[in-house]
Parts: sequence; structure tokens; C-alpha cells
Amino acid sequence: MTKRIYNFSAGPAVLPLAALEEAQRDLLALPGVGESILEISHRSKPFDAIIHGAEADMRKLAGIFDNYHVLFLQGGASLQFSMVPLNLMPPGGKADYIITGIWSKKAMKEAQKVGHVNVAASTEADNFARIPTQEELNLTPEAAYVHFTTNNTIHGTEWKREPETADVPLVADASSDIFSRPIDVARYGMIYAGAQKNLAPAGLTLAIIRDDLLARSPQGLHTMLDYNTHAKEKSLYNTPPVFAIYIARLVLKHLLDEGGLEEMARRNQTKAGLLYDAIDASGGFYRPHAQRDSRSLMNVTFRLPSEDLEKKFVSEATLTGLDGLKGHRSIGGIRASLYNAFPREGVEALVAFMKEFREKN
Ligand SMILES: Cc1ncc(COP(=O)(O)O)c(C=O)c1O
Repeated sequence: MTKRIYNFSAGPAVLPLAALEEAQRDLLALPGVGESILEISHRSKPFDAIIHGAEADMRKLAGIFDNYHVLFLQGGASLQFSMVPLNLMPPGGKADYIITGIWSKKAMKEAQKVGHVNVAASTEADNFARIPTQEELNLTPEAAYVHFTTNNTIHGTEWKREPETADVPLVADASSDIFSRPIDVARYGMIYAGAQKNLAPAGLTLAIIRDDLLARSPQGLHTMLDYNTHAKEKSLYNTPPVFAIYIARLVLKHLLDEGGLEEMARRNQTKAGLLYDAIDASGGFYRPHAQRDSRSLMNVTFRLPSEDLEKKFVSEATLTGLDGLKGHRSIGGIRASLYNAFPREGVEALVAFMKEFREKN
């Protein structure tokens, strides 16, 4: 097998080796089926078992109650930026958006095409280096929902606890930290996520939506944009991303086998802790982007003394088998994404590289 290097990419991102190995082993013919997962019908019995197994394991893993639907969709988290307001905001209604980064802004922009958006808080003036406090939130009691981004992939910040929104349903874009730690699903009206970071390859979007919210979708909404279509047809109204759902099934099984979300949280704390410690101990050579109390465990972002050094850092790291460390073009610097499947040894290798790089430069 070709050697695998350490993949720090923000997404699509590293997947559990056990899942990849099982997929590789069974790629030509699924056991007991004799056809490839790439070839089987989404209406076949074997795929039925796969999609139901994925849903059952997800419910077990995250404690998703029966009054929530689990939907396997397409179009990325970006399509949810539109589907959320189209379904959940009544005509002439309003919604609160908490702006903590570029993805929340994009979500807000789509909602503004549907109704009135109140910016409940924004940390843009602080370069999105922090998460707002509860006291900063200017919430609208009659809002249809409050939207927030649980983890800000680009800036490297994350909410440590959900905002308090009283009776207003909370809607979360959890694309970059879904299943990285325990989640209290009952706190949410809806959770959605592009799957390509912690769950599956690209092409699958997950939506977990509370039953009562489905009644809000307006008459006449386009069939594919209506959550009711996908809930009623159990995500099989049209052809779903069969392969991505299959991999999600393997990843979810793996997460359960490895000890579930508590264990993922423990490992993710340890991994990110190693890296933040190295940044903090660098005497200012490495400067974290996020404020301490808002630091993401999934995406660790930092700067070096100059852009030239950052370029050199990325290219020398790549040569030693540490790939995908270039920060998002909008904020520059370095970003190390440490999703569930990213191994601790990879973080240790990065920390060792950082020490050597600092000493040399
Ligand atoms: C937090 C967050 N939201 C939304 C998106 C957009 O996701 P997609 O590419 O699936 O539309 C991303 C992608 O990186 C993201 O990190």
C-alpha cells in the first residue's frame, strides 16, 4: 500500500483507517451481495440495511430521540443555508443569526432573501477570534429560530455550550464538529452538517430536525427543497449519495466501537491540547488566532512572524509528510484540522516539526 501521510485538511478530510480498509476490502463485492456498493440500487435490500443501519447507529451514538428525523441530503451545508429559512421562516417572519465567521455570514445572506434577519451578535469587529457571550446576544422573542455555527472552521473558534434561546428553536450548522463530542440534541430544533469533515466523503449532508418544525414548511415549496419530502420518503425520494452513506455507516459503527462521543471528546481534547500547548510555549513565535476561551478543538489556527515564514512552514511541513496546513485564504496563516479520525501521532509529528522550525528560523 502507498504510505499515508498526515492530512490536516479542513475538509474533505481524514477518515478512520478502519472504515477505509473495510470499504477497500469490500469494494468489488459487498459480502453476501456480490455487487459493489458503487453499483447497487438505492432501492435494493442491501442498501436499505445500510441506510437504516447508519441511522440507527447515529441515533445510538448521539442520543437522537424519536421525535427527530434524520435526513441524508445533498447540496452541502450551503444548500441548508437556503433550506433552513425556506422551510422554517414563515412569510414575513424573522430569524436571529449569530455571526461568528464567514459561514454564518453566508447562511445569513440566504436567510435575508426569505425574510427579516436580526443579527443577534457578531464578533466580526474582533476578526472572528472569539465566540460572543450569552450577555451579548440580542435575541428576538418572536424569532422563528436562532441560527449559529457550532464550530468556525476558518477562524478556529467553537462554542463551548449552546446559546440560551428560551422557547425559540436553535438551528445549528455543525459541519465541522459534528460527533466530535457529546451533543444534547434536545437543545436543538435542527442540526445540519456537510458530512465531509467528521463523517463521510463529500456528497452527503446530514440534517437532524425536530418533528414539529416540519409543519412550518410553506405550501408550494419546491419538492426537493421541502424537508417533508425527505422525511416522508426516508431520504429516498430521489437517488441519495449511496457511497457516502455507506462510508458514513462504517464511520458511525467505528465511532461506537471506539467508545462513542465521550471518548471522541477526550481524544480531541488531548490532541488539540498538545498543539495549543506548543503554540503557547513558543514565546510568541506562533500566535494563535482564537482567543483562549473560544479555541476550537477541530481547527487550530495560528500565525507566524511573517507571511514568508508561513509559506516556508507550509512547504517544509508538506515535504515531511504533514499536508494541508495552509490557512484559509481569507485569514491566512496556518490551520491544522484535527477531526476525530486524525491520529494523535500526527499531532506529535507536527509539534516536533514546529519546535525544529522555530529553532531554525
Ligand atoms: C461550518 C461550515 N459550514 C458550511 C460549510 C459549507 O459546506 P459545504 O461545502 O458542504 O456546502 C463549511 C465548509 O467547509 C463549513 O465549515
